[in-house]
Order: sequence, then C-alpha cells, then structure tokens
Amino acid sequence: MTHPPQRTAHLPLWLKSVGAAALLVCCLTGCETEPGDDFDVAYTSFLNKCSQCHGPDALGRSSDTAKGLDMSSAATARTSLTDNTVSGLTGNSAGCNGVPFVVPGKPEQSLFIAVLDADARTKFDLPSHPNCDNDAISDMTLKVNAEPSADTLAALKRWVTSLQP
Ligand code: HEC
Repeated sequence: MTHPPQRTAHLPLWLKSVGAAALLVCCLTGCETEPGDDFDVAYTSFLNKCSQCHGPDALGRSSDTAKGLDMSSAATARTSLTDNTVSGLTGNSAGCNGVPFVVPGKPEQSLFIAVLDADARTKFDLPSHPNCDNDAISDMTLKVNAEPSADTLAALKRWVTSLQP
C-alpha cells in the first residue's frame, strides 16, 4: 500500500514555521471576534459622540471638562481609556480625580462604564477612592443625549473584562 506524498513536503522549513506561528497567534487571539473589535464597533455606533467634548480640539470642551480622555478616534479613545486617570474634575465630581478610566478586567470598577450605566454607578465601589460614588459620577448619556444600546454596553463591558491587568 502506498501513501500519497504529503503536500507540504516540498515547502521549505522556514515557510512551514511561519505558517505555524501565524496559526498559533490566530488561535491565541481568537481570529474571529477579538475583544478589540467590540470596542471599534461601539466607537462607530456610539462612542464617537463623546468626541464633541473629550479631545484636544473638541469644540464642546470647557474648563470643567474632565481631562485625560481623548475620544477623537477609536485609537486615541482606546489608549487614553486604558492608560490615563481622570483629572480636572470640580465640585461634586472632584472625588473621582485620580481614578483610572478603566480597571483592566473589572468593568464594575471602571469609571468609563459607570458614566454610561446607571446600575454600574449605583454599585461603583473603588476602595482607593471612596468619594467616587454615585453622587460624584456624572451621567454622560445626558451629555450626548443618547443611551448606548444593551448590546453596546455589553460589548464595552466585555472589552474591559478582556484587558490584562
Ligand atoms: C457636552 C460635552 C460632553 C460630552 C459630549 C461628553 N462629556 Fe464626558 N465630561 C464632560 C464634562 C464637562 C465632565 C466633567 C464632569 C461634569 O461636569 O459632569 C465630563 C466627565 C467625564 C468623565 C469623568 C466622570 C466623573 O464624573 O468622574 C468621564 C469618564 C467621561 N466624561 C466620559 C465621557 C464619555 C464616555 C462620553 C460619551 C458617551 C462623554 N464623556 C461625553 C463633558 C462631556
């Protein structure tokens, strides 16, 4: 009995290795839907509205607008949310100064989620910043005059959950 020749037999070894590496990366990151896609979809459908005020050139920006957040594009939104803490808050909101926009892996401790979700605001509890509570956290859906859909909110929570501490 004869076996058909293996089809990959003639490929140079380096090419096989590149193929195997690509496949591995694909499996590890889940090529079909990456959590990063959740963020981009949410940006296109909803978060782009935040750029009216949060960004270096935002027309709606004023002296009391929270600093540290650049919502001008999906890319700047993503990096400023994951890398920065909020500052420049006054009055009632001042208790949230220094709070990270996102706590990786923890949507329930992420200010970014709390400004979009009344339920998350009520339960918000960040031991390092006890004064950042329901009274201090502003409802940003009022500023954009729109609520995120349940799907969008779920996608953003999924994105925060997927981030590595
Ligand atoms: C009309 C301008 C405007 C828009 C649009 C806007 N914001 Fe804000 N944002 C502000 C101001 C002003 C503050 C400071 C707190 C306050 O005045 O309520 C703030 C505060 C924040 C804070 C800190 C909240 C706190 O109270 O600790 C976050 C996070 C935030 N905004 C995210 C967003 C997101 C996400 C969107 C889009 C859904 C958005 N903002 C849309 C003006 C805006």
